[in-house]
Amino acid sequence: MIEVQQLTKRYGPTVAVSDVTFEVKKGEVLGFLGPNGAGKTTTMRVITGYLPPTSGEVKVAGYDVVEESIEARRHTGYLPESPPVYTDMRVSEYLAFVGRIKGVPGRDLKKRIDEVSEKCAITDVQSRQIGKLSKGYRQRVGLAQALIHNPDVLVLDEPTAGLDPKQIIETRELIRGLSGQHTVVLSTHILPEVSKTCERVVVINGGKVVAVGAPDELTHRLQGFESILITAEGPRDEMKARLERVEGVTLIEEREVFDGRATFEVHAAKDRDVRSELARAVVESQWRLLELRTSGMSLEDIFLKLTTRDLSEEESAGSARPETETKEQ
Ligand SMILES: Nc1ncnc2c1ncn2[C@@H]1O[C@H](COP(=O)(O)OP(=O)(O)O)[C@@H](O)[C@H]1O
Ligand SMILES: [Mg+2]
Repeated sequence: MIEVQQLTKRYGPTVAVSDVTFEVKKGEVLGFLGPNGAGKTTTMRVITGYLPPTSGEVKVAGYDVVEESIEARRHTGYLPESPPVYTDMRVSEYLAFVGRIKGVPGRDLKKRIDEVSEKCAITDVQSRQIGKLSKGYRQRVGLAQALIHNPDVLVLDEPTAGLDPKQIIETRELIRGLSGQHTVVLSTHILPEVSKTCERVVVINGGKVVAVGAPDELTHRLQGFESILITAEGPRDEMKARLERVEGVTLIEEREVFDGRATFEVHAAKDRDVRSELARAVVESQWRLLELRTSGMSLEDIFLKLTTRDLSEEESAGSARPETETKEQ
C-alpha cells in the first residue's frame, strides 16, 4: 500500500533521509521508530506529497507521489506533527472545511463528519471551538480531519506526543481500531508506543533504516544468543554446576537466590533450544523445577543498541561496516 524506494531527501547540505527503503502492506500498522532528528517527519512529508524527494520513489496505493500526486493524496490522510489549528473554528465547521478541500461531495459531507466524529470520539464536542478543547480532544480532531475523505492510508506523525497517559491510551486504542480498514504508518520516538500499537517496526537513525521487523523478530535477530531463565529449588552451587554441564550452554549467571530457590540466567548458542535438557537436568537431580522460560532483550535494549552503535560508527569516520552486517548483528 505504501512503497518507499531508495528515498533520499536533502535540505541544502543536510542529508535528512538517506537511501530509505520499506513498504507497508494493506491493513498493516507500521511503526516508524527513531530518535529526534532521525528523519521521520521528512519521510512522512514525502509520503504525503508535501515535500518532493531529492531522489528515489514513493508510491501510495500504486500512485507515484510526485507524478500522480493528486491521486496519491486522495488515498492519503495525514496527521502532521503539529496539526494546523484553526482555533476559532468549531469542530464541525473545521471538518466540513477540510472535507470540501479534500473533495468530499457536498451531499456526503454531513454523513462523513458524523462518521469520523463517532470513530474519533469527538461527537460531543462538534459544536465547540477548537481553541477551547483539551490537547487530547484536539489531537482526535486532527485524526478526524485525516480520515474525513476515507483514505486507504493514514500517516500519523507522533500521534501521542504531548498527551497525558490516559489520552495516550485512548489514542492508541483509536489507532488500533483503524487498522484493518486503513493502512497506518505512525512515527514515534517513544519505545512503548510501537510495541503497544504496531505489528511491524522500521527503525530509523541518522536518516538511515537500521532495522525492520516485528518487535520480537528484532529481539531475536539482535541478540546473539538464546537466553533462558530457570528457577529451581535446591542447593544452588550444585545446581549451577549441573546446569553448566548441559550441552550447548555457554554461560550461566545467578540472578536471584531466595529462600532455598535460585534463578539462573542461562545462555546458549543462537537457535539452540536447551530448555528440555535444562529441565531434565533439574528433575533428574530431584530438585524442584519452579519456572523455565526464554527471556529476550527488551525493545528498549534493541533500540539503544541500534541507535547508539550507529551514531558512534559515524563518529569514527571511515569505519562504516558493510550494511548487511550492521542490519543483522
Ligand atoms: N526544513 C528543514 N531545513 C533544514 N534541515 C531540516 C529541515 N527539516 C528537518 N531538517 C533536518 O533533517 C533531519 C531530520 O529531521 P526530521 O525529519 O524532522 O526528523 P524527526 O522527525 O525524526 O525528528 C534533522 O537533522 C533536521 O535538523
Ligand atoms: Mg518529527
